Amino acid sequence: MANDKVYTDYFFDEPAFNTHDGGFIQLEEQNVPEQPLKVPEVLAPDKETDTDMYYTVIAQEGEVQFLPGQKTKTWGYNTDYLGKTIIFKQGKMIHITLKNELPELTTFHWHGLNVPGPYTDGGCHAPVYPGESSEIVFKCDQPAATLWLHAHPCPSTAEHVWKGLATGVVVKDDIEAKLPFPRNYGVDDIPVILQDRSFDENNQLDYLADYDPDGVQGKVPLINGTVNPYFDVTTQRVRLRLLDGANRREWRLHFSNDLEFTQIASDGGVLPEPVKFTHLMLTCAERAEVIVDFGDYKPGDEVTLYCDDIAILKFKIHEFARENVTLPDHLVDIPDPEVTPGTTPHQVAMSGMDEMVELNGKKFDMQRIDDKQKLGNVELWKIVNTNDKESGMIHPYHMHGTQFRVISRNGHAPYPNENGLKDTVSVNPGEVVVLKVWFEHLGVFMNHCHIIEHEDGGMMAQFEVYDPDRPQTYKLMDMDTLMNAFAEERGVKREDLNIPGMDM
Ligand code: C2O
Ligand code: CU
Ligand code: CU
Repeated sequence: MANDKVYTDYFFDEPAFNTHDGGFIQLEEQNVPEQPLKVPEVLAPDKETDTDMYYTVIAQEGEVQFLPGQKTKTWGYNTDYLGKTIIFKQGKMIHITLKNELPELTTFHWHGLNVPGPYTDGGCHAPVYPGESSEIVFKCDQPAATLWLHAHPCPSTAEHVWKGLATGVVVKDDIEAKLPFPRNYGVDDIPVILQDRSFDENNQLDYLADYDPDGVQGKVPLINGTVNPYFDVTTQRVRLRLLDGANRREWRLHFSNDLEFTQIASDGGVLPEPVKFTHLMLTCAERAEVIVDFGDYKPGDEVTLYCDDIAILKFKIHEFARENVTLPDHLVDIPDPEVTPGTTPHQVAMSGMDEMVELNGKKFDMQRIDDKQKLGNVELWKIVNTNDKESGMIHPYHMHGTQFRVISRNGHAPYPNENGLKDTVSVNPGEVVVLKVWFEHLGVFMNHCHIIEHEDGGMMAQFEVYDPDRPQTYKLMDMDTLMNAFAEERGVKREDLNIPGMDM
């Protein structure tokens, strides 16, 4: 049965939308000349064989002409701001040299990639010091998906991402390759990284000046690092790989004339069935691949993508060849393993706001393992947002090292676009979201709210995926080592180190 329903609401609880935050900053359309949407280049491999791919990813300084006047100093991966898109093929062995050319330590976290923790995964336990590099090797073994790479040097993750350290990662496989989706990168298949930034009077990013413990925001919409962007549409259908790459902002997306669009994939890959929308909300770190059909438009027309009521991206319609493609009702099979009998559900409570954020009543400690799950087990995780229904906020809950299934929201079915694999799920105030979680790799992994200032502020924990037959020991980073390194690199005394949200 085809699901012809078109969803027209944002699903999440309206009283908890970020528009109600005390510190909410509304986006503003920028009075600067429109510019073509920057489409990140694809990162070329250093070497490629039938079975192996070799890459070098460099975290580097740069500068970008975002606004008229002074250029903005930025950070990026292999480029000035954000990065080049990294494409992996399922089944290949991937070898990556991670190089840090920044003046301070950073880490390279593969958000959504199923790799061992904690070093390959690239959280806070895997620092790469300035001028140094490290190597990771892993097998790409998961379905086609839109993932991302971002810095994760707790507790400075938010600042590193704010400066630009985030980029798209695309996994390809043979199943997705057969589906009737647009996939000509840069033409009808484009990453759309949604961010907001604030610039000082010299057009610079000043993270500390804009700091808000509930998440840093800015009034300037920056789409793939472009201010006031447009995209030239030369095909009837365009696939947008949407990523909420903002530190805090929720994106409530809709097109002019309520143009319908079809979501075909979520965080972990293709959905079991396409879902049609006129309105779609993304919270931090979530991805949605959508296909927009411009078949009812003619050359010269313009279609606008809005967040709330602010235009963030325009589509200029050009001549295109007519196509008549209907998506199959069923796209892919999604794994749905049975919960391992005799296991107890894990409990995760996200509580507080501002500096008071905690996970299970505690602040993050990188030396403490808060939970564990046996490799091969399938277990339930119950995620609670204890915020007040009227005044609380939505916390996007993320787990490293897995793509999970969303089972229920307060006992009800999850939202219609949550039936695929996900690594980030937003939880409304007062809600319990039940996940079914399994792992394919050993390691210590993090789980946290993906409002990045909340994660830096301590709404984060870590768990170990273990195998009793293969006990491991991990060298875990500690706050002292990290703080001393930051102080030295920034040329300040440890006590003068200004990392907001941190008690030195
Ligand atoms: Cu996007 Cu801890 O990660
Ligand atoms: Cu992650
Ligand atoms: Cu949060």
